[in-house]
Amino acid sequence: MLFIITQNIESPQQSSQGSQNIIIETGRYPDQVNNSKRKRQKQYRERNREKLKHREAERRKRIQSSQSIIGPSTSSNSNIMEVNNEKPAVADVIRTCLGPQAMLKMLMDPTGGIVMTNDGNAILREITVQHPAGKSMIEIARTQDEEVGDGTTSVIVLAGEILATAEPFLEQGMHPTVIIRAYRQALEDMIEILQDKVSIDLDCNDRNKLVDVVKSCVGTKFIGRWSDLACQIALDAVHTVLLEENGRREIDIKRYAKVEKIPGGSIEESHVLKGIMLNKDVTHPKMQRCIKNPRILLLDCNLEYKKGESQTNLEIMKDTDFTRVLELEEEHIKKVCQDIVAVKPDVVITEKGIADLASHFLLKAGISAIRRVRKSDNNRIARACGATIVNRTEELREEDVGTGAGLFEIKKYGDDYFCFITECTNPKACTIVLRGASKDVLNETERNLQDALHVARNLLMEPKLVPGGGATEMAVSKLLTEKAAAIAGVEQWPYKAVSQALDIIPKTLAQNCGANIIRILTALRAKHATEGNTWGIDGETGEIVDMKIRGIWDPLSVKMQTYKTAIETAILLLRIDDIVSGIVYRLGIFHLSHF
Ligand SMILES: Nc1ncnc2c1ncn2[C@@H]1O[C@H](COP(=O)(O)OP(=O)(O)OP(=O)(O)O)[C@@H](O)[C@H]1O
Ligand SMILES: [Mg+2]
Repeated sequence: MLFIITQNIESPQQSSQGSQNIIIETGRYPDQVNNSKRKRQKQYRERNREKLKHREAERRKRIQSSQSIIGPSTSSNSNIMEVNNEKPAVADVIRTCLGPQAMLKMLMDPTGGIVMTNDGNAILREITVQHPAGKSMIEIARTQDEEVGDGTTSVIVLAGEILATAEPFLEQGMHPTVIIRAYRQALEDMIEILQDKVSIDLDCNDRNKLVDVVKSCVGTKFIGRWSDLACQIALDAVHTVLLEENGRREIDIKRYAKVEKIPGGSIEESHVLKGIMLNKDVTHPKMQRCIKNPRILLLDCNLEYKKGESQTNLEIMKDTDFTRVLELEEEHIKKVCQDIVAVKPDVVITEKGIADLASHFLLKAGISAIRRVRKSDNNRIARACGATIVNRTEELREEDVGTGAGLFEIKKYGDDYFCFITECTNPKACTIVLRGASKDVLNETERNLQDALHVARNLLMEPKLVPGGGATEMAVSKLLTEKAAAIAGVEQWPYKAVSQALDIIPKTLAQNCGANIIRILTALRAKHATEGNTWGIDGETGEIVDMKIRGIWDPLSVKMQTYKTAIETAILLLRIDDIVSGIVYRLGIFHLSHF
């Protein structure tokens, strides 16, 4: 027990309120005690008081921080609850970000920058969570974003709800493995229902239908006001990078469709280039800045003096030797430039540097040169204009030169120069040029466009749709409840709980547009019982509409990934019965932080 001496010896009644304070009666010190002794004792007590105060504050801080992470309890059974209690916190943060009436979050990063977004993954990326269970919740948003690019908010909301449904069963003493078995079974049935009963096929050649689906994805975002433009951009970009070889489809938007942001102008000026754009200028101001049908040569080697490795010794005996060394360097550059000029390119682009002398030789041969482009950019240019990236200039051949581009041009926006390689005949890579008023607007537009690109890609890879606006969740929930009756034993209850947890999506959509949740959900359930499985909630008005008529569709791959990730995360977290951290606290208060 720690005591704090807080009171002044002259006023004992003041301190009597604090239960932990020691009351020192003034009467214990008779008047005749000499003043110096009293003074010394007072000083001693004050010193002690400061020390104790400090220790107590430290102890409280330590206990508080450990409690805020996990809660004060240490029994292993309650740990499951604590793990589960962390998830609604993460899910609650982004619940208001679901659907077309979603709210944005403004996040501050440690460096003082701000992010404004309603993208689930982007929000959670910026949040610092201490609890390990919270961290794994955030991880699933990232996984979802990498796998399918959309549905990151839904997956967190759903996972939070599914974990919450496990809580009553754990409180009743049901073993986690029983719950896990039921969840597994439910997931299998959900996937089956989604594939066989709810999804419909999509004709990939029907551009209008594709536009509809991408529109319902971007409709929930900031870019929703320019949804037509965003859809066109997303579909154009995806069609550009689509590669079909021997019946195999490849759409690698991450590598071959790059979004470049140029601040200024308006969002309407954004477009997809039939080629590539780089934020670069030519190496010499006199080089040509506009070339029609350019012959493009791509290199990933230096056009500079050969530099020595980490340690190079050069022995010079005479004064002429030094001149000779310089001459050799120049000869080397000259030789490299001659090799390049021999294949008659109009533009040379290299990933490494170009020396002034090399620039001079290239300028004399009428060649424009660009240096220090990124490897990924060079790969894109190679795909767009049909060139091959060459490492040794002595091995250059005619076939390595790219002739697929129609125009090489350097343009200036603001203070920056941009290099455009456009009008390519068959570009299999592209750049999406985004314009916008400010950097924050551009960043959010890019995030939204990435969602649209992923949805377009998913559709072309797997052309299957499910109705949106909570219709799919209601349909799957209904069919799962029907199936639950056939399950024997206690597993039936967690199984049923999963079907009820799915309601969180229509519920949140209704909540976010200000509708009456209970009335809407009851009416929606009635519609599903009588009039088919495409009825959902119009996220703009909060009314119940047929999604076939309203035209809100989600790709099957996104929905399926959402369910899989949500349930598997819930299962993973339910398996945890204890969290043990290796941190050893000082002062022996906690020896091993066993939560
Ligand atoms: N106009 C609409 N009316 C009703 N529901 C809609 C509408 N547009 C989209 N939805 C639904 O909203 C949900 C998607 O919302 P949102 O795009 O905000 O989140 P997400 O896709 O889960 O996550 P994120 O886009 O942040 O990665 C889907 O369930 C979709 O069916
Ligand atoms: Mg979305």
